[in-house]
Formats: sequence, structure tokens, C-alpha cells
Amino acid sequence: MNVLLILVLLGLSRTATGTPDTCESCGLRPMADGREISRVARSRDAQPGAWPWMVSVQQVWSTGIVHVCGGSLVGPRWVLTAAHCFVDARNVPTWRVLAGATHLAHDRPEVQVRFVKQLVLHEDYDNVSQKNDVALVELDHPVRCGPHVQRACLPDPSLPLSATANCYVSGWGTTSAKAAASPLVLQEFQVHLIDSHTCNGSGWHRGGVHPHNVCAGYPRGGGGDTCRGDSGGPLVCQDGRSDRFWLVGVSSWGRGCARAHRPGVYTSTQSFHHWILAKMGLDSPGTTTRSTA
Ligand code: ARG
Repeated sequence: MNVLLILVLLGLSRTATGTPDTCESCGLRPMADGREISRVARSRDAQPGAWPWMVSVQQVWSTGIVHVCGGSLVGPRWVLTAAHCFVDARNVPTWRVLAGATHLAHDRPEVQVRFVKQLVLHEDYDNVSQKNDVALVELDHPVRCGPHVQRACLPDPSLPLSATANCYVSGWGTTSAKAAASPLVLQEFQVHLIDSHTCNGSGWHRGGVHPHNVCAGYPRGGGGDTCRGDSGGPLVCQDGRSDRFWLVGVSSWGRGCARAHRPGVYTSTQSFHHWILAKMGLDSPGTTTRSTA
């Protein structure tokens, strides 16, 4: 068989399996299609490929590699995460990103490691109030999208959150405020969006929540909440009509974990839509689609 024919056949088989590696589509979970997601509030181990935009943002030390924050692929070269992950550590060569992983210690063929070309922290990030807690990481080489690696969809400000139900959080953060060690297996659980007025009320976060935040969790606590090490990771909600997942929030802060009236606070991606596109160089006039990245 000549080389050209082999290439043509390879091309055809790609199309047939429907998993092009160009990262054209967003918010899809090829490995989880048709599989029910747990509606249970408690965290549980995610299946391989369950959250294909989820990445681990890691620091490389001479003593080893540590998971620092979560992040989400929003383009083949771009990871959206939290600015506070980098406050004390802006030294680009010490960072790396793991895409396609479920178990942090398992070296599997679907796992892709990338180093960092550029860290873009929000210019107005305030490390006291946690205002504008958003950052983009530019990777040294694009990831290859496939069954385990996909980008999340970025909603523009016009997407009504009421149109999205079923919101989920995932991460390698600790499973309780007191836990000493983080899990090696990616954890997932469902959360409810909590309106900002309630979330900011007395007895709740008392004014600490900014207009550019989204709160999510369980009003009575006890259920799923993000915790230490989940920062930067995704809060995604499913679009009732298309089954796609929209990246609605970036895990930012909380008070303790899973406490009553102290839901997790996330940076709203809708509020930073233009900032994100501008930094990725995609802010061409007339960009009106909801799924840009
Ligand atoms: N700032 C945390 C981190 O560094 C995220 C905390 C979220 N906490 C919460 N209770 N929801 O990982």
C-alpha cells in the first residue's frame, strides 16, 4: 500500500470515529456519551475521560511534581484557571499542565504534558478581595483533542444561566477541609447555582462576593463543595437543549469547605468573556457566537 493511500485511510477512519483532533467542537464528552452522571452531591471518582477539558496545573520542583490548581482547556493552546494560583510563583519554566488525566500518578497514553509559554494573570487581580481571580495559561504546544481531551465551551454574557441545569465541579482538591492529602483520582460531583444576593447575605458570605462571581454548592452544606487544590478548576453546566457543557465558573475561594451557608465562590466566565477572547487573540469584531474559544 502506498503512503498516500495509508494517509487517506487514516483520514477516513478519523472521520468515521467522529473524534477529530482539531479541537473544533467544545463542551462534549466523547467518553461519557449516554452515560448517566451521578446526581449525588458527595464527590466520587470520575471515570477516565469524564471531564475532558479538566487539566492539572502543576509545579516542577527538584524534589518532585506537585498538583497546585485545576484548570480548563478553552482552546488547544489555552487553559483558563485562577490568578491566585500564581501569586507567589510567576516563574514560567517551573509550571506544567497535564491534560487527559484521571489518575495523577498513572502514565497513560491519553495523558498529554505541556509546558508553559506564557502566564496571563488578570491585570486587576486583587489578592486581598480576590476580585478578578482569573488567568490564562498559554501552552508551549497545542494539545491534540480526542476522546480524553476536549475544550470546554465559553458562554458569552447573553447565555441565560437559567437555561443551563445540571452543574458539575471536578478537581483533585482535598475531599474535606481537614484532609491532609489530596486524592490522586479526579473527583466529580453535582452542585446547585446559588443566587448572588442570597450568597452575599448576612450569615452567608456577607458582601465578599463580587458582581463577577457565581456561587455554587449546597445551601445547607454537607454536600459537594470544592476545597483546597480545586482552585482554577471548572464549574460546568449542561445546556438542556444541546447536551453541551458550558464553562460557567472558575473555582476561586470559600470559607472552610462544605459548610452551611458558605457555598463555593467561582469567577464568572461570562463576566470575563471579552477579556478571555482578547488575551487569546480572538476578539475580532463581530464575534457573537456563544461557543468561542
Ligand atoms: N482557594 C481554593 C484552592 O486553592 C479553592 C477553595 C474553594 N473552597 C470552597 N470551599 N469552595 O484550591
